[in-house]
Amino acid sequence: MSETKLISGFSKLTKEEKIRLIASYTDDPESAEASIKLFWNSNPDIQKQFDEFSENTLTNYYFPYGVVPNVMINGNMHIVPMVIEESSVIAAASKSAKYWATRGGFHSEVISTTKIGQVHFIFTGDFGLLKSNFQHLRLLLLARSKQITANMEQRGGGVLGMELVDKTSDLEHYYQLKVSFDTRDSMGANFINSCLEEYAAGLRDYVNDSGLFAPGSIQIIMSILSNYTPDCLVKTWVECDIRELDDIEGSNSAEEFAWKFEKAVNIANIDVFRATTHNKGIFNGIDSVALATGNDFRAIEACGHAWAARDGNYRSLSEVSTDNGRFRFSLTLPMAIGTVGGLTSLHPMAKFSLNLLQNPGAPELMQIASTMGLANNFSALKSLTTKGIQVGHMKMHLLNILNVYKATEEEKVKAIEYFKSHKVSHNEVAAFMHSVRLTNPKH
Ligand code: MEV
Repeated sequence: MSETKLISGFSKLTKEEKIRLIASYTDDPESAEASIKLFWNSNPDIQKQFDEFSENTLTNYYFPYGVVPNVMINGNMHIVPMVIEESSVIAAASKSAKYWATRGGFHSEVISTTKIGQVHFIFTGDFGLLKSNFQHLRLLLLARSKQITANMEQRGGGVLGMELVDKTSDLEHYYQLKVSFDTRDSMGANFINSCLEEYAAGLRDYVNDSGLFAPGSIQIIMSILSNYTPDCLVKTWVECDIRELDDIEGSNSAEEFAWKFEKAVNIANIDVFRATTHNKGIFNGIDSVALATGNDFRAIEACGHAWAARDGNYRSLSEVSTDNGRFRFSLTLPMAIGTVGGLTSLHPMAKFSLNLLQNPGAPELMQIASTMGLANNFSALKSLTTKGIQVGHMKMHLLNILNVYKATEEEKVKAIEYFKSHKVSHNEVAAFMHSVRLTNPKH
């Protein structure tokens, strides 16, 4: 077995030392150091703030920040910021937004906003006795978290409910204290986790000190929020008469388009391979908004995928119906997103994004992010069921390919013109660049 060299005390090194050490692991340490420093922010205060978001920070990693104009939600127009590296996503969302803006726009409603946290514990005492004393225990626990909850209660949120759950049929002696929360405009992870750790300590003390149970009959395993929030739900939809879908490029008729579109959603509903890609396209839109607004996109994704599999089969997150001549396309999903706390006010661009969105509350941001999910899903299915995805995608990707060939601005202009009427592929772009450079050999 080869010996692994451990790096000790890395976090204690200065930033310069960290960079030097890490660069020494690359083929060309000097240029590695230069690349790392190239992406430092020129303002040392901003750079320091970024360094402190995380640990062992060397530099920043840039993603493009774009906007989607013309997003009409419940009659109000928005310019929606999106952070995404994949070409076509913003273009797709923009096309969809403009398309639906002339057909009533997007409609969205927040169904519920409850979040969940759990204290997981092993208990070997009399659970019936613990349950029968739960009303009293509950008040003790709530009193214990008063300091943590006071602020949230002032904002209209706090602890909504608390229950003991018997999970012993799944795992021997395993129980939960399941707590529901209203975290208002914050995503609420820190608030929930702080409350839960207090409840865990209170529960342990109660079992050990009340005299009702043998000391040591409880072991707290862990206390943590659940990123699955099926009761923090938003529904977003578009609808119009099928006849109004008469201007879709690559489709013979509105009826044909609606029929194929419905089949595409139905396929994503019954086939996990297709469902995963279909839902990935939805998260293209949602994650981009989550990133632009400083939200935890991993939590939002994990929750969405769990929800997509809530009946035991992983299915499409979106639904479509074409009854009575109406096309109705909707997306319902849980989403724990925040507009206060976390990075939302610390990251200058997250702050800017929220400002651009007119400083929404969390429910409005749920509506906006899910709208972009639906917008991207509509565009993807529209392309897939008509002219295919690659025509548009490769057109958008053209600049990336040209950059691989280090095309000059002049060459880019020529290429963009040429590929208006030619199919884009790596080979075609390579051939084009070759011929351009043959006629203009000074490159
Ligand atoms: C690509 O990022 C997303 C799509 O694959 C989504 C889909 O297939 O529905 C285009």
